[in-house]
Amino acid sequence: MHQKYSLFAIFIALVFFKADAYDPLDPFGNITIKWDVISWTADGYVALVTMNNFQMYRHIPSPGWTVGWQWQKKEVIWSIVGAQATEQGDCSKFKGNVPHCCKRTPIVVDLLPGVPYNQQIANCCKAGVVSSYGQDPEGAVSAFQVSVGLSGTSNKTVKLPKNFVLLGPSPGYSCGPAIIVPSTVYLTPDHRRKTQALMTWNVTCTYSQFLSSKYPSCCVSFSSFYNSTITPCPSCSCGCHGKKDCIKSDSYKLKKEGINTPRKDNAPLLQCTHHMCPIRVHWHVKINYKDYWRVKIAITNFNYRMNYTQWTLVAQHPSLNNVTRVFSFDYKPLIPYQSISKCT
Ligand SMILES: *[C@@H]1O[C@H](CO)[C@@H](O)[C@H](O)[C@H]1NC(C)=O
Ligand SMILES: *[C@@H]1O[C@H](CO)[C@@H](O)[C@H](O)[C@H]1NC(C)=O
Ligand SMILES: *[C@@H]1O[C@H](CO)[C@@H](O)[C@H](O)[C@H]1NC(C)=O
Ligand SMILES: *[C@@H]1O[C@H](CO)[C@@H](O)[C@H](O)[C@H]1NC(C)=O
Ligand SMILES: *[C@@H]1O[C@H](CO)[C@@H](O)[C@H](O)[C@H]1NC(C)=O
Ligand SMILES: *[C@@H]1O[C@H](CO)[C@@H](O)[C@H](O)[C@H]1NC(C)=O
Repeated sequence: MHQKYSLFAIFIALVFFKADAYDPLDPFGNITIKWDVISWTADGYVALVTMNNFQMYRHIPSPGWTVGWQWQKKEVIWSIVGAQATEQGDCSKFKGNVPHCCKRTPIVVDLLPGVPYNQQIANCCKAGVVSSYGQDPEGAVSAFQVSVGLSGTSNKTVKLPKNFVLLGPSPGYSCGPAIIVPSTVYLTPDHRRKTQALMTWNVTCTYSQFLSSKYPSCCVSFSSFYNSTITPCPSCSCGCHGKKDCIKSDSYKLKKEGINTPRKDNAPLLQCTHHMCPIRVHWHVKINYKDYWRVKIAITNFNYRMNYTQWTLVAQHPSLNNVTRVFSFDYKPLIPYQSISKCT
């Protein structure tokens, strides 16, 4: 009976994720991409594009974000500061001044840290790595500046870019349309004068585990001081891949395929295990008194491609709203919500 119940709950949750790109543990989480037009030019505009990660626990790890969109007219990108388009495209029509990118669907990535100062703006050049708002609000922003040509040159004639795509760096985000919002107001550094963007539009992107992958990215094993039996992760917890999808820890292939070099699509290079998960979370009950209990959590990485430096672990348990002491971790309660546990 109990088994039936939990299966039912999981089914409901998956349907929920699919329908709404909605995360019950972070219901208001999103990434906004805001375009502030800071000047109109002879043939277009200059916009400051700011990406804010308002998610509580999901950061954008290495190798960083990729953002793409579609122009509505014949727009080109004359130049970008603090980022770059991955492809220039066909600019053969242009004589003299050649645009940075002529593609109808430009794809932009962040620059690496340490580029010359004249190629930087504030919050750029972090190799696309962006913290989550819950972990580090100040690091949860990324920005670049783009000069657009062959475009409308006023708020009446400009056509907003459409069909935004965000990889962070894995798939899983879906973005809504660009919406004109009240112009952003800036305060000068001395706080004595306000300026404002000439026009602002926002795009909101939300994450769905279901879009990202059919399978979870971690599994949980369990043990306790009162029982010598360790309950392992269920077999194939993260999908039942074939033996060729994983690598034995002593394999010569490891050197060839590269340790600690994440791929742009974030595909893992798994160590062979029966659960085939990139991450195992082991929950060991150390103390279980009437008044309190204590667990030791061990997290093991089975993905040779990733270091997982800025990781977060999200867990849900009826008594976690009263955690009294946490050792060697930073701990933060999320909104208490009735749902299943998950991993990122
Ligand atoms: C995006 O997230 C922010 C912060 O949690 C929230 O205030 C805002 O309503 C969200 N926007 C959408 C469209 O969900
Ligand atoms: C637009 O995005 C910014 C953050 O980039 C946010 O502060 C603002 O509230 C958003 N505006 C609307 C109307 O969603
Ligand atoms: C467009 O600009 C005019 C002034 O040039 C302003 O009155 C109007 O509110 C602006 N419209 C939008 C949608 O920003
Ligand atoms: C220890 O755990 C196993 C597996 O969960 C269970 O079958 C067994 O009854 C437990 N033993 C005791 C003494 O609790
Ligand atoms: C991962 O960590 C190892 C050892 O600390 C380091 O040599 C390697 O450069 C790191 N790789 C990445 C992609 O951060
Ligand atoms: C939290 O635990 C303390 C003692 O550790 C207890 O006094 C308090 O009632 C608990 N609060 C809740 C909401 O359970």
